[in-house]
Amino acid sequence: MSYKFPFKLTVSEKTESLIELIVDYIEKSFYQRLYFDSPKPLGLATGRTMTPIYKSLVKRLNLWPQEDLKLLKEGWCSFNLDEYVGLDTNDNRSFWYYIHENLSIPLGIQSGKFFTPNGKSSDPNLECNSYLSKLKIYGGIGIQFLGLGANGHVGFNEPPCDYKSSCRVVSLSDTTRKQNSFAFGDDLKKVPESAITLGIDEILNSEEIHLIVTGDMKSNILRKLLISSPSENLPASWLKLHKKVFLWVDGPAYKYFK
Ligand code: GLP
Repeated sequence: MSYKFPFKLTVSEKTESLIELIVDYIEKSFYQRLYFDSPKPLGLATGRTMTPIYKSLVKRLNLWPQEDLKLLKEGWCSFNLDEYVGLDTNDNRSFWYYIHENLSIPLGIQSGKFFTPNGKSSDPNLECNSYLSKLKIYGGIGIQFLGLGANGHVGFNEPPCDYKSSCRVVSLSDTTRKQNSFAFGDDLKKVPESAITLGIDEILNSEEIHLIVTGDMKSNILRKLLISSPSENLPASWLKLHKKVFLWVDGPAYKYFK
């Protein structure tokens, strides 16, 4: 069943002001979560879209009263969406490394509270099963943050992709490997060919979703997403089956709708 999509749209011409609006929302949610009995884990995305958001979030959280910040840190529990197969945690191109650089270290939160699939597992399929079981033990995702791939992927759910897809090993498309080659010195040969990703099923089971789309380069795929019906050729379009998707976009990404 499709719902009103998005549940809430926020457009801000300037990326910087969009980021501040997103961080306002996150800060408020984090504050409320302090008083929940056992809030569900956060679902974290990585990538260039998220970097300035995490940067601003860290600044804001570090201004919190010590007592509240302590509570937040103690209760922290997050699951990353994805990881490259073959990259070690101390490889600065791994998403484990990214999330530690961007959140765990600057916030002073123990690394064990940030779950990430193990890209170096000797059996990646088994790793998917154990990552999924861990997520289920923790009750699934509460707030899920998502960036949008140039080919419409979310996490590393590459097209074609079914809405029932679950945590699994995926082959990365050329488009995605090109999109992410900046982290590998623009050398396509160095970009891993596969990754572990949470599936659309886990994403759709989260309580609320925040899809963040910035920059002119995302304007085409955003246009496609907004006008298409849910289909396997555009994995992000499955988000239309979720009733609480917040879509955050800046002016350049939204240019076809202004
Ligand atoms: C990447 C990641 C996603 C990310 C998306 C957008 O390949 N797997 O988690 O959200 O694609 O990336 P970026 O924000 O760098 O454009």
